[in-house]
Amino acid sequence: MRRLNKTNLKRTNIMVSYKELGLVNTRDMFAKAIKGGYAIPAFNFNNMEQLQAIIKAAAETKSPVILQVSKGARNYANPTLLRYMAQGAVEYAKELGWEKPQIVLHLDHGDSFELCKDCVDLGFSSVMIDGSALPYEENIALSKKVADYAHQYDVTVEAELGVLAGVEDEVQAEESHYTRPEEVIDFSKRTGCDSLAISIGTSHGAYKFKPEQCTRDPKTGRLVPPPLAFDVLDAIMEQLPGFPIVLHGSSSVPQEYVDMINQYGGKLPDAVGIPEEQLRKASKSAVCKINIDSDSRLAFTAAVRKVFAEKPGEFDPRKYCGPARDLMTELYKHKIINVLGSDGKA
Ligand code: G3H
Ligand code: 13P
Ligand code: ZN
Repeated sequence: MRRLNKTNLKRTNIMVSYKELGLVNTRDMFAKAIKGGYAIPAFNFNNMEQLQAIIKAAAETKSPVILQVSKGARNYANPTLLRYMAQGAVEYAKELGWEKPQIVLHLDHGDSFELCKDCVDLGFSSVMIDGSALPYEENIALSKKVADYAHQYDVTVEAELGVLAGVEDEVQAEESHYTRPEEVIDFSKRTGCDSLAISIGTSHGAYKFKPEQCTRDPKTGRLVPPPLAFDVLDAIMEQLPGFPIVLHGSSSVPQEYVDMINQYGGKLPDAVGIPEEQLRKASKSAVCKINIDSDSRLAFTAAVRKVFAEKPGEFDPRKYCGPARDLMTELYKHKIINVLGSDGKA
C-alpha cells in the first residue's frame, strides 16, 4: 500500500484514502436523506455472502448504502481483508450496472481512539466512536479527539449520547438511558461530530424487549412491543434542527425468520424487534441512518437451518450459504424499498 503525500506531515500515517477506493463519506448522503425524508441503510457485514447480498440489493434498487464493520467483525474476518472486500464491493457494484455507487465503509461502535484511527488509516470513509458508556465529559473528550483526527482526511464521525440496552459480543448494557435532549447541542458542538446516535428505546440483538415490557396479541400470541420514544426524538430535533440522527438497534426481528429457525430445530422464544412502521416513521424525520444487523443474522440462520433440516446429506457450503445469501438479498431490498425509502436515491 502506498502512502499519501509524504511531504505533508499530517498525512504520514494514512495508508490509503477512501476516495481512492471509490468510497464516499456520509456528509452529502445524510444531507440529502434528511431533505428527502428517507434514511440510509447501515448493514453490518462479517463475510462474503452478507457483502454480496448488500451490494446486490443496493445496486438493484439504486440505494446509497453504509457497509458497517464492528470490532467483532474485524476480529472475525481480519481488518485488512474486510477493507479489500469493501474495495471489491465498489467494483462489484459497477459490474452490476450501478455506474456511480454511493457506498460508505463505516466502523461500527469504535471503542477507542486507536481503533478509529486504524480504520481511518486503512481507508474507511466514516467511523463511529461510541463513548456512550463513559461519563459525559469523557465521552466528549474522546469523541472530539476522534473527530479532530478523522476530519483531517475528510472522514465523517458518528458519536453517541444515551445508552442502548442489549447484549451482543462487543456491545453490552444492562439498561437503556434515553438521550437527554438538553445535552445534544453542547455535545455536538464540543465534539464536532457529523452525526449523533441516540437512544429512544431501540436496543441491539433479537430480544429487544422483555415479555413484561410488551403486551401480547391475543390472536397470534406474539409479543407487541412498546412504542419508541418519539417525543424524545422530537425534542432532540428541536434542539438540533437538520442535524443527522442515527438509530442503532433497529432490526425488526421478522417473525417469519424466527418461525423458520424454530421450525428447523432452533430455539428463539419470544424474540422481538422494532415494528417496521415505526422505522418508516423515523426515516421521514432527521433520522438518516438506520442500523440493521440482527435481521440479516436471522435470515442467514433460517435459510441454513432449512437446508440442513431438509437435506441432511448436504455438505457443500455453497448449497446452504447460497440460499442464505438469497434470503438476505430479499431482506435488504425489502428494508430499502418498504421501510427506509432509500431506493432510487443513488
Ligand atoms: O451493534 C452491534 C452490531 O450488531 C455488531 O455486533 O459486535 O457482534 O459484531 P458484533
Ligand atoms: P440490531 O441488533 O437491531 O440489528 O442493531 C444493529 C446495530 O445497531 C449495529 O450497530
Ligand atoms: Zn449499534
